[in-house]
Amino acid sequence: TKSSHGYQPDIQSRTPPYPKLLKRLHEVRRVLGPERQLTLAEKILYSHLDNVEESLLSSTDNGLNIRGRANLKLKPDRVAMQDASAQMALLQFMTCNLPSTAVPASIHCDHMIVGERGADVDLPESIKGNKEVFDFLESAAKKYGIEFWPPGAGIIHQTVLENYSAPGLMMLGTDSHTPNAGGLGAIAIGVGGADAVDALVDAPWELKAPKVLGVRLEGELNGWASPKDVILYLAGKLTVRGGTGFIIEYHGPGVDSLSCTGMATIANMGAEAGATTSLFPFSERHVPYLESTGRSSIALQAQTIASATPLQNLLRADKDAQYDEVITIDLSTLEPHVNGPHTPDLSTPLSKFAEAVKTNQWPTKVSAGLIGSCTNSSYQDMARAENLVKQASSAGLTPTVPFYVTPGSEQIRATLERDETLNTFVDVGGVVLANACGPCIGQWKRTDGVEKGDDNAIFTSFNRNFRGRNDGNPDTMNFLASPEIVTAMSYAGSTTFNPMTDALTNAKGEEFRFSPPTGAELPPSGFEIGKPEFLPSSGAPIPSTPVIVSPTSDRLALLDPFPPFPHNDLSGLRVLYKVTGKCTTDTISAAGPWLKYKGHLPNISANTLITAINAATGEVNIAYDIDGSTSGIPELAQKWKDQGLEWLVVAEHNYGEGSAREHAALQPRYLGGRVILAKSFARIHETNLKKQGVVPLTFENEADYDLITACDEVSTIGLFDVLTNRGQGSVSLKLTRRATGEEVVIKTRHTMSEDQCGFVLAGSALNVLARMQRS
Ligand code: F3S
Repeated sequence: TKSSHGYQPDIQSRTPPYPKLLKRLHEVRRVLGPERQLTLAEKILYSHLDNVEESLLSSTDNGLNIRGRANLKLKPDRVAMQDASAQMALLQFMTCNLPSTAVPASIHCDHMIVGERGADVDLPESIKGNKEVFDFLESAAKKYGIEFWPPGAGIIHQTVLENYSAPGLMMLGTDSHTPNAGGLGAIAIGVGGADAVDALVDAPWELKAPKVLGVRLEGELNGWASPKDVILYLAGKLTVRGGTGFIIEYHGPGVDSLSCTGMATIANMGAEAGATTSLFPFSERHVPYLESTGRSSIALQAQTIASATPLQNLLRADKDAQYDEVITIDLSTLEPHVNGPHTPDLSTPLSKFAEAVKTNQWPTKVSAGLIGSCTNSSYQDMARAENLVKQASSAGLTPTVPFYVTPGSEQIRATLERDETLNTFVDVGGVVLANACGPCIGQWKRTDGVEKGDDNAIFTSFNRNFRGRNDGNPDTMNFLASPEIVTAMSYAGSTTFNPMTDALTNAKGEEFRFSPPTGAELPPSGFEIGKPEFLPSSGAPIPSTPVIVSPTSDRLALLDPFPPFPHNDLSGLRVLYKVTGKCTTDTISAAGPWLKYKGHLPNISANTLITAINAATGEVNIAYDIDGSTSGIPELAQKWKDQGLEWLVVAEHNYGEGSAREHAALQPRYLGGRVILAKSFARIHETNLKKQGVVPLTFENEADYDLITACDEVSTIGLFDVLTNRGQGSVSLKLTRRATGEEVVIKTRHTMSEDQCGFVLAGSALNVLARMQRS
């Protein structure tokens, strides 16, 4: 990287602690026996264990059977946070009263920036509209020694790849596409703010030991096929839940045929298959990337470690590593894929897509093409798209629909500007948006006449395509594809066009066919660093910095610790709501306009459960109080909270499925929720509830769900004993039915570990951390 402006990144803090990790790997080998062959995921994870012996000795099968079972206590090397989720993470961190973070961390302002008319207009307006939040994040970053990347500096995952990710690193990020860093050989896991706080205060972070799904790559991509197609194909094969509980570990001879940024694209979208993270082994292709991003010393160390004897090789899997499952992909025969609409696992090979459009009656016209995002904004992506634009320009063609380009970082943008790539896009009518999430996270103000309710098809190089995600219009179908395919489709304007076989016609009536795209992997003249105002602040803490949270703010509010558990069982709880059907984290804490209040727990709590279906009446968000009066669910919860009444929610299967959104646990807790009684829980959400001091219980007999009605009164039996006996014992609920006064005892199950009992007793995991810091 050109170090103009005197910018000197702190390479030491960006280098994984290799000597320590190698020592731990040695210990892992000693405990498991030298004959135990390890996957790369295991090597990196286990080398980050807080206590190697304690975790691994519990195994009885050479450490193999801990996968999917044991709770690993890990010490990550670094934390990255994006602006929307960083607010709650920092507010929680602040309650621990530490002078600085225990591990290096960074904040990236990318989610709150709108994409509308182009970076020059959109960026200043977004900064103005979110000034209070950005000021808070910047002041907290300064105080606690967190590197702060201001609005416009880039998208978190691109910036992390360019600056922080490195082979063998383990990091947490408060965003679900954190696994992007796995393209550069790091284990990078997306988490909620409370989990990030574990790492920030140096407490071990718990993870159920993942299983390892091996994806063997053979052959070499060619023609139109790109790294994006590898993951579009795989997402189709695995479905959105197929990767749950797994780390996807790529291996095989095809790995070295991929560029480093191509590997990042693939790792990024493992999240779409529900994987814990995705990981690539050290590859010689990592070396030029590390060098061109100013990290030659890391490249050198990684090369040395990767060529060490098998026993000491931290950066590649052992030869006979055992995977829980293996999928093989032949890159040589892979064709481009298009995924969508509305779900990223609906995957169609390009050659079959026109047929699928007809069969499903999807729109035949493309309404917009968008390239970039954290998934696909590398130099190579943009260079290959540029190549197609130049081909079409030479035939006198321009895109027939609005065409948007989102560079992933200022470094990418400045380099593309220098190399005239951006000009090529702008000359044909392309709009260059700010280096931020913009349309990918719904911050897209469409100006192309498409209104809410209009059926239309967009092609994007993004990673997610749930209804309404991009423009708030549930009738927009987002088809995910590589930037190359998106670019070609923007010229055709037709969803049935196949750029590999079909021709376009120019104004003179001449036929034009695209040739397969080409483009340099890395900029031949190196990366530009870009505008100095987008460089990060230093990571040195300045404890005297005041952290700005206005008491009258409606966007930020300091957190008050939750009170500890009483010294006895809970009594006098009321059933606030009995939910029927799916209850996802979106149902519990809606996104969209509510994102604005992520740093203000009281305000965002007004969205609690607002799309939950009332089991008794089928109504949505209509709750009944004891006197029969009705209100919204959050309003009734607030009313009861004001009356000093605590409550529980009763629900069906997989309560809290979806994301790691911690607000879905924080909000019920804030409003007085004590217990969630469900037929089953989504694992991450269940953990989040315990971390916030809410007790998740499941029915021993599912049919007991039918015995309960809203406003019934509930007392716990045995809960206090379970909590004080490190999770031993069982809990029942004594139900007094509101209608008849009849008493019923309902048997339940719990999954509280010793640590989790401690969280509930203390009031929250954060209270435990704060206490540890004080003592
Ligand atoms: Fe941002 Fe979209 Fe990635 S929201 S972090 S660009 S998935």
